[in-house]
Amino acid sequence: MSEDSKTYSIYSNADFVDKYFESIQHNAWNAYYERPSSLSLLPDITNKRILDAGCGPGIVSKILRERGALVTSVDYSPAMVDVARKVLGETGDIKCMDLNLGLPNFDDKAFDIIYCSLTIHYIDDLEFLFKEFCRVLRKGGVLIFSTDHPDSPAFKDSPITAKRVNDVVWENFGITLRVIERPWGDILSSLEKANLRIEKIIDAEPTEQCRFYFPQTYQYLKENRHFICLRATKSEFPLVHD
Ligand SMILES: C[S@@+](CC[C@H](N)C(=O)[O-])C[C@H]1O[C@@H](n2cnc3c(N)ncnc32)[C@H](O)[C@@H]1O
Repeated sequence: MSEDSKTYSIYSNADFVDKYFESIQHNAWNAYYERPSSLSLLPDITNKRILDAGCGPGIVSKILRERGALVTSVDYSPAMVDVARKVLGETGDIKCMDLNLGLPNFDDKAFDIIYCSLTIHYIDDLEFLFKEFCRVLRKGGVLIFSTDHPDSPAFKDSPITAKRVNDVVWENFGITLRVIERPWGDILSSLEKANLRIEKIIDAEPTEQCRFYFPQTYQYLKENRHFICLRATKSEFPLVHD
């Protein structure tokens, strides 16, 4: 169960969550690198039903709502959910749920789009989660997610040859998070098995604001790939496997 894990105890720590929320509003890595890259994969979202899966403090949910979407936000951390409730206000539709257990609260075809940024590397059974994503998406519905780039310098000395657990230090927060790393091919094959067809894959790109506010990090991120963002659609026709 996720609730027992090291990562859960960090994401559920209110002091950490306050610092994380403060930090990602205006930092190089989230605000001016990963987030704009993932958001760039969205189609027109006016009146679209979007699930923000692993919503964290709700910053993306707020952006999606301001762009006209009908947003449901879920996260397993009560502390993240508390902050998201403040960010989204009384009308926010926010649920505390562990994605490792699937999406039992939601009906088939309940959403047009699922947005899942920087969260799949905490999920134990990705094929199961992608199948759940597929179930709750309407046909032609879109999944967008971001995760660690397979060519990240973090993996240079220790390439990912099989699913593994790794303890990753976030020096700026003084914490160690436990992540689940898997070969990129396994992620793609889990998508395929879930009947989700890849439409577009991009390397995250630092923005002009990143260059302006954080020139050194900008230069580093131009020269090194850290996050990858992908858009897939729910196919009309399941693949036939042997
Ligand atoms: C790096 S944060 C990203 C937050 C948000 N998506 C963003 O981009 O701002 C990862 C989030 O995933 C959530 N998370 C991790 N494992 C989860 C799980 N099993 N079920 C639900 N949420 C999970 C964490 O609580 C955290 O809020």
